[in-house]
Amino acid sequence: MAFDIDMIKKVYANVVERVDAAREITGKPLTLAEKILYSHLWDGKPTKAFTRGKDYVDFAPDRIALQDATAQMALLQFMQAGKSKVAVPTTTHCDHLIQAKNGASSDLQSALNTSNEVFNFLESVSNKYGLGFWKPGAGIIHQVVLENYAFPGGMMIGTDSHTVNAGGLGMVAIGVGGADAVDVMAGMAWELKFPKLIGVKLTGKLSGWTAPKDVILKVADILTVKGGTGAIVEYFGEGATGMSCTGKGTICNMGAEIGATTSTFGYDDSMERYLRATDRNDVADAANKVKDYLTGDAEVYENPEQYFDQVIEINLSELSPLLNGPFTPDLSTKAGADMTKAANDNDWPLKVEWGLIGSCTNSSYEDLSRAASIAQQAIDKNLKTKAEFGINPGSEKVRYTADRDGILGVFEKLDATIFTNACGPCIGQWARYSDPANAPKNSIIHSFNRNFAKRADGNPNTHAFVASPEMVAAVAIAGRLDFNPVTDKLINENGEEVMLDEPTGWELPPKGFEVKDDGYLAPEEDGSHVIIAVKEDSERLQLLEPFEPIGNDITGAKLLIKAFGKCTTDHISMAGPWLRFRGHLDNISNNMLIGAVNAFGKKTNFVKNQLTGEFGGVPDTARAYKAAGVKSIVVGDHNYGEGSSREHAAMEPRHLGVVAVLVKSFARIHETNLKKQGMLGLTFANEADYDLIQEDDTFNFLDLNEFAPNKPLTIEVVHADGSKDIIMANHTYNENQIEWYNEGSALNLIKKENA
Ligand code: F3S
Repeated sequence: MAFDIDMIKKVYANVVERVDAAREITGKPLTLAEKILYSHLWDGKPTKAFTRGKDYVDFAPDRIALQDATAQMALLQFMQAGKSKVAVPTTTHCDHLIQAKNGASSDLQSALNTSNEVFNFLESVSNKYGLGFWKPGAGIIHQVVLENYAFPGGMMIGTDSHTVNAGGLGMVAIGVGGADAVDVMAGMAWELKFPKLIGVKLTGKLSGWTAPKDVILKVADILTVKGGTGAIVEYFGEGATGMSCTGKGTICNMGAEIGATTSTFGYDDSMERYLRATDRNDVADAANKVKDYLTGDAEVYENPEQYFDQVIEINLSELSPLLNGPFTPDLSTKAGADMTKAANDNDWPLKVEWGLIGSCTNSSYEDLSRAASIAQQAIDKNLKTKAEFGINPGSEKVRYTADRDGILGVFEKLDATIFTNACGPCIGQWARYSDPANAPKNSIIHSFNRNFAKRADGNPNTHAFVASPEMVAAVAIAGRLDFNPVTDKLINENGEEVMLDEPTGWELPPKGFEVKDDGYLAPEEDGSHVIIAVKEDSERLQLLEPFEPIGNDITGAKLLIKAFGKCTTDHISMAGPWLRFRGHLDNISNNMLIGAVNAFGKKTNFVKNQLTGEFGGVPDTARAYKAAGVKSIVVGDHNYGEGSSREHAAMEPRHLGVVAVLVKSFARIHETNLKKQGMLGLTFANEADYDLIQEDDTFNFLDLNEFAPNKPLTIEVVHADGSKDIIMANHTYNENQIEWYNEGSALNLIKKENA
């Protein structure tokens, strides 16, 4: 059994007691999101009400999911914690490192050839420490989670933004950085700012050509890519209960595209049907017993304006099929005449070259069956498909069942390429061109979630439009972006005018799901004998060494770089080609701060080595200081480290000998990541002191031996001419975080406590 029914029953036992307590404390009825949050407090039963958008709260998630790209550093760190097993149920999924080129069998084999070292590492670490392991080809993390692990009322975190997909099965599921996942795997709490709440009331019913995808495309249109920031989006109303569980998953999945913390739906019959169809009768039975606790209180949904921070209402009966894009998922255009105009006005190519169906967003049995009902019509009505088809099923369970039921066969008759059950074209792993940077301008349509430039095929000139699977099928058959299947005719091979009928499909497979090998490997009960093999000369993996404590004596530290203006985690640790080295701290450290603009000279990756007077790249200069036994300091501007929760942005400077990052202000997650790595994240008490910092400065910390909560630190800055300034630096370290610093890292402290 892949899931843990005892754990779920425990959650449901807590939910009743804790939700009742939360209702009393807050003195009001509760939304579903609040119920899940209050029933997962680290400290147990709620004793106080939290202020949304303000209070930082410790939570105890029920599950963790890791994908192969982010799992590498997360697991390398976890290995440092000195634990024999993960503290909460965790799974690893191999889906991002598989290229889409010629089709599943040869593509999967070449992924095994190129990344086997990484897959083997993930498999053996999973086996040793009690994580479930899903092999390459088993499926895409979020589809596999929905089929096997998601459960109504649960809380999970995952090292991938689209972890939010599990909201379709009534969870609060949130994408996090590796460092957060490691904390929870090691038995620590997980901190989150108590989110704001956006309510989306769905009235009416989807029909004809509209699909759940159109709901989220519409929400993205209304809220834009930033509108959900810091909030949980909760869907309710007759329109919500009227759609399938996997359709709800699609809507929650793309909550990431509006920046939402996560999205969720209350438990209903569609979820029960899905749980039973995916072999989880015991979860459905347990959920039914606490049904009322797994959805928002009736008063909340009757008067949503009183209980949500923002309310949106969408009438599904009036919704029409949308195409969002290009280059941003929140730019909505209605199919047909609106698209003709928008494409002409903006010079978007109307000819569509590819229609791609699948990804974690839209690869359910229902999605594939509805798209296939359109594809079948091309065959029956003797239409020649104008664009090429590519399909990437979400899981082996869906693929096997869809193949058994002839669904994939329909696409194959249209010469579709069936890619591996993996991310493939959704994450730029689509080998469409030999030279993508110089590839021609073109349009594609897909049922994925993201459509930023280069996202699918690396070609900056590919205009990607996001739509429902059935619309992707129709548009790909017509080969025109502005095709409106409701009104437009097509000419078939006999020269006759034909129209496409509305899509039909199955919410769940009529003959049930079936699979031969789902690709799951359970860990051994006792994995203590498992050896984790990492080759000495590996380019991609490197076992971590515990960081040595920096100590209380920081004198003679040299300025490494004074970052000017915006310095996001991408400036600190770039993505792109560097992703290859995510599991190798020393190699990936060669990208440290290479995107940051140096305040002196305003160039990137060009700083002065104070020991030699020469100029060079940031990583090289840091390495030179480290080799000479000289500590270094990074100075930065406002909101330093904004962007992602990528832990590499904190680990790299720590690895290359940076002892403190002193900035005007931090993005909070990055600040916490610096603390976790046992280094100093400080802010100027007086922002204007940033201007005092000069290129040849040396730093002496005068009172670090008195490092204590709420007590600013005093730093002497010695300039090249011998003059000095005394500056004060604030910090937000609490007692425990000071212990992290004293021990060299949070993981060192955990290890010590476990010893
Ligand atoms: Fe993979 Fe794309 Fe989903 S990269 S996890 S299919 S968003």
